[in-house]
Amino acid sequence: MKVLLTGGTGFIGSHAAVRLIELGHDVEILDNLVNSKVEVLDKIKEITGVKPGFHQVDLLDYEAVREVFKDGGYDLVIHFAGLKAVGESVEKPLLYYENNIEGTINLLKCMRESGVKKIIFSSSATVYGDTGETKFTEEMPVGVKISNPYGKTKYMIEEILRDEAVADEDLEVVILRYFNPIGAHESGLLGEDPNDIPNNLMPIIMKVARGEIKELKIYGDDYETVDGTGVRDYIHVVDLVDGHLAAIKKMKPGVLVYNLGTGRGTSVLEMVKMFEKASGEKLPYEIVGRREGDLGEVIANADKAKKELDWTALRTIEDAMRDTLNYLSQN
Ligand code: WQD
Repeated sequence: MKVLLTGGTGFIGSHAAVRLIELGHDVEILDNLVNSKVEVLDKIKEITGVKPGFHQVDLLDYEAVREVFKDGGYDLVIHFAGLKAVGESVEKPLLYYENNIEGTINLLKCMRESGVKKIIFSSSATVYGDTGETKFTEEMPVGVKISNPYGKTKYMIEEILRDEAVADEDLEVVILRYFNPIGAHESGLLGEDPNDIPNNLMPIIMKVARGEIKELKIYGDDYETVDGTGVRDYIHVVDLVDGHLAAIKKMKPGVLVYNLGTGRGTSVLEMVKMFEKASGEKLPYEIVGRREGDLGEVIANADKAKKELDWTALRTIEDAMRDTLNYLSQN
């Protein structure tokens, strides 16, 4: 298939590009490079021998996106592109609504105009909001008490996709709700390398390990969890991408929704200890107050993807730590 990856030079997108090329698909990337580097294209070539077609385009530039689709002939779009810093979204809601929502609408208008009928959307566990639950199934309510504009944009885009799938009965939509992606490609050539100040735990741990940040601040140890620190469902990025490949096989008209997680939770302190074990070095940290909007425990119930996509996460957190350290050692 000919596949367009929006946000394809980013952390998840670049790993998806590698896997799709390895499977023989014709991959093109559309990215504005606001949170990734163009050198990723060479890394993808180094791993696969193929350099994906690249369009340095902002989804807000409707005419430029139309141009990409005019020559495109795509069979499938995987929509990774989006701003994703939770804290920044609270400070700059208009930036997030414009970028994530308007960008998606432009993308969907171009898909409709050029007859592209398949889209996989990179959604997030954040759409489940703060409902008091800790383990989430796809049937649970979404859009309720989401604590930040970033998460709200993911929810709103899910709704836009549902409505577009009603308006166009040929449209095939898969919504994949990511829990917490970590790890790196086994080659050490690709990994999580955000341009912005990272929000997420592992990129921050990596910066502490590199000495770029003095210490990890652990946001709260008074949650109702195994050791008081936040518990999340960390999934290896390669497992996450394989979830996309499994979903491609099952696409059909209408909307499918799947959690992509391991079904297991790990606390911040446990992540620190595993990183120290993997690196052989102490990781300096300080326990500070809770971060606004954080939940105590967020874990996927991943049974539906197992049952319907015949997919489960195979890699462990130790695998992810090893791959992350390998990436660190080469970058
Ligand atoms: C994980 C745990 C923090 C940093 C968000 C989005 C989600 C997805 C991933 C983009 C929490 C703790 C973190 C730090 C800490 N979005 N932590 N000190 O908040 O689960 O999910 O990012 O990819 O949609 O909602 O991920 O990595 O920010 O935090 O103690 O410096 O680590 O409190 O318990 P989160 P995270």
